[in-house]
Amino acid sequence: MKIIMLGAPGAGKGTQAKKLAAKYDIPHISTGDIFRANIKKGTELGTKAKVYMDQGLLVPDELVVDLVVDRFKEPDCQQGYVLDGFPRTIPQAKALDEALAKSGDAVEYAIDVDVPDANIISRMAGRRACINCGGTYHVETIPPKQEGICDVCGGELVLREDDKPETVEKRLKVYHEQTQPLIEYYQGKNILKSVDGTKDLELVFKDIIDIVEA
Ligand code: AP5
Repeated sequence: MKIIMLGAPGAGKGTQAKKLAAKYDIPHISTGDIFRANIKKGTELGTKAKVYMDQGLLVPDELVVDLVVDRFKEPDCQQGYVLDGFPRTIPQAKALDEALAKSGDAVEYAIDVDVPDANIISRMAGRRACINCGGTYHVETIPPKQEGICDVCGGELVLREDDKPETVEKRLKVYHEQTQPLIEYYQGKNILKSVDGTKDLELVFKDIIDIVEA
């Protein structure tokens, strides 16, 4: 099963991608998580990516595409994967199609988690991310059992640097300009499915399961 999660920053792509990956025992590949792990380790890629991420801008395509295409070659990707945050531009989508076509493969579903901009700012302000495992919570809607502590690994929960309101506004602008055109791109390939991301997260998950198991 090869699934792409689309949607604005904070729409809930990561939350749903993790649940899908667990249900179908396939990897969750998040380019945002890969960059954040590289930043934490202080790698050259992390240093380059941070400059763009902190400003709410996209990391240049040439730093992203090979990273993801190489990841597909890992043995755990044989049964498929859930892509979260990639592709994010039309050139990335075309590069993905070309890379998959080489092995006679293609993405099966592009699932757009639809949430209006007005809901996004408050979601992001309340999001807390684990500095250790990347798990995400929300102070009101999805709180951890113990405030400030990750339920899964006990790591510290923090507000992501790029979740500050001024950066979120920039990320939304970039989303509408560079990523939203992918909706039309995948509509043209007849694999686009949309779900209402404003519903409770379990209801959103059920809607996605109904799509992939139809
Ligand atoms: P990335 O980490 O991918 O960020 P994003 O796309 O902006 O998405 P987010 O992780 O912010 O949100 P999400 O949709 O996953 O929402 P979540 O599930 O956490 O990328 C970060 C940066 O890296 C980019 O800005 C860019 O610079 C760079 N980058 C990454 N990939 C790139 C690429 N391919 N090309 C170029 N640059 C790239 O949910 C949000 C909050 O809402 C959480 O608190 C959650 O608990 C809560 N929530 C989720 N679902 C619900 C629900 N149904 N109801 C109520 N609350 C909910």
